[in-house]
Amino acid sequence: KPAHFQVAIDGPASAGKSTIAKILATDLKYVYVDTGAMYRAITLAAKNAGLAYEDEAGITALLPEIKIQFLPGEPVQHVLLNGVEVTEDIRSTEITNNVSLVSSYAAVRSDLVNRQRALTAEQPVIMDGRDIGTTVLPDAQVKIFLIASVEERAERRYKENVQKGMKVDLETLKEEIEARDYKDSHREISPLTKADDAITVDTTGQNIDQVVATIKTIIEDHQ
Ligand code: CDP
Ligand code: CDP
Repeated sequence: KPAHFQVAIDGPASAGKSTIAKILATDLKYVYVDTGAMYRAITLAAKNAGLAYEDEAGITALLPEIKIQFLPGEPVQHVLLNGVEVTEDIRSTEITNNVSLVSSYAAVRSDLVNRQRALTAEQPVIMDGRDIGTTVLPDAQVKIFLIASVEERAERRYKENVQKGMKVDLETLKEEIEARDYKDSHREISPLTKADDAITVDTTGQNIDQVVATIKTIIEDHQ
């Protein structure tokens, strides 16, 4: 088992992974690693370099120059791409709708998996994404597969966007979520799947506090 405690949280888009992981990390004093933000940052780096998202070779060549940093922040961590704050830019609709393609590239995945594993060397972590339990941290002490109905996930994202003052349509959001889940589950390299030893937590109809409490109990049972 890893020297420092590892909690892996995987699941489809908008299941609540980052919200729950962040709260647990603060409570347990673990470091939170948002791997989705890393894939989003690479996607934004491609855009900033003027590359087409289809340009796998170009994006691969860019990887050694890409620096990604996380800084503490409320309610979300700050994400820096080559020293520049991109916390909001990486959540734009354009990046959201192209990140699944960019994250399907072999070089992108192996580069980010290496960076993610390096973050576990000296500290306990809670890491969320799509392939954490299956690929990044296969020996994690706790693996959670977080799910919720697609209707509820679209609702949650809808409310979040309305709060941010963004104009969105619930049906469009649902279609975008389904399209991204399909791509993430069907790519060749480390697709989104539940690890055999992961515990499924269905959060449909559950608020954030309830989910946090459920997972906290699971972590305590494994300590
Ligand atoms: O928060 P949200 O569900 O919108 O997605 P995210 O966690 O920010 O991840 C964005 C995208 O990055 C996913 O749809 C995947 O295409 C990709 N990703 C991945 O391939 N592997 C991971 N470990 C994390 C994210
Ligand atoms: O990281 P992931 O894409 O899995 O989801 P998220 O960004 O953490 O959560 C998506 C939205 O659902 C956020 O606005 C959360 O506040 C909300 N949420 C919720 O309403 N109830 C839950 N049990 C979990 C998340």
